[in-house]
Amino acid sequence: MKNTVTTLQEQKNNGEKISMITCYDYSSAKIMEEAGVNTILVGDSLGNVMLGYEDTLQVTMEDMIHHCAAVSRAVKDTFVVCDMPFMSYQADVSDAVRNAGRLVQEGRANMVKLEGGVEVCPQIEAIVKASIPVCAHIGLTPQSINAFGGYKVQGRTEAAAKKLIEDAFAVEKAGASMVVLEGVPAKLAKMVTEKLSIPTIGIGAGKDTDGQVLVMQDMLGMFKDFVPKFVKQFANMGDVMKEAFESYIKEVQDGSFPGEEHTYDIDEEIIEKLY
Ligand code: KIV
Repeated sequence: MKNTVTTLQEQKNNGEKISMITCYDYSSAKIMEEAGVNTILVGDSLGNVMLGYEDTLQVTMEDMIHHCAAVSRAVKDTFVVCDMPFMSYQADVSDAVRNAGRLVQEGRANMVKLEGGVEVCPQIEAIVKASIPVCAHIGLTPQSINAFGGYKVQGRTEAAAKKLIEDAFAVEKAGASMVVLEGVPAKLAKMVTEKLSIPTIGIGAGKDTDGQVLVMQDMLGMFKDFVPKFVKQFANMGDVMKEAFESYIKEVQDGSFPGEEHTYDIDEEIIEKLY
């Protein structure tokens, strides 16, 4: 089944959970589509897990387009959401529309995601007017870590919870078709999910959002620099990969790889003529 903004909305309306995983490359995206994921997020978390930056602030439009295009080439039915990187939309509304357009035209994204609530509503309205679906991202927004003073759960005080609800209503009114709730208390995320008509996708927001998203390297146990409380490791690919690398190194060293079955042949007579 092809996933679209319409089918994702229907999933919310029918109480069917939406699955989303981050992805940044062709081979992994193919496996995710085979597994039947509804949506892939080409997140700016690629700055951390693919490029080794300490935060997402250095990620560029070129990085996002490059990785989004690779993912888009791999999938047919999966809905591709691409993050707008830091400073590609905050300063100016027309910049935001042009950059969102590049993610669609060059990255072949189906939807763009940007961080923020009330303060980015003019950008959301303008991008939606350009016929580009928008996913908002509120709560713990990693592009604001310097303003937050670190990766901290948001919405815990009465004022902060009210601000989160206000942001959620504002982005829906501005035309967002989906909203990511990151790092917020589960009961608050449940309340927001019940109040909004558009689907909510949670990460560190409990089980009552309309869908869930995890970073691929986190859920596969491949990225261990920092493992947040909300991460469940569904496999330990880090160890599996390490064992495979160790076996390869050993076989290269002891000469057992490559074997006959990995080797191309040539007529012995030709070889003799060459000596
Ligand atoms: O960049 C990303 O991976 C994200 C998710 C954590 C929601 O924005």
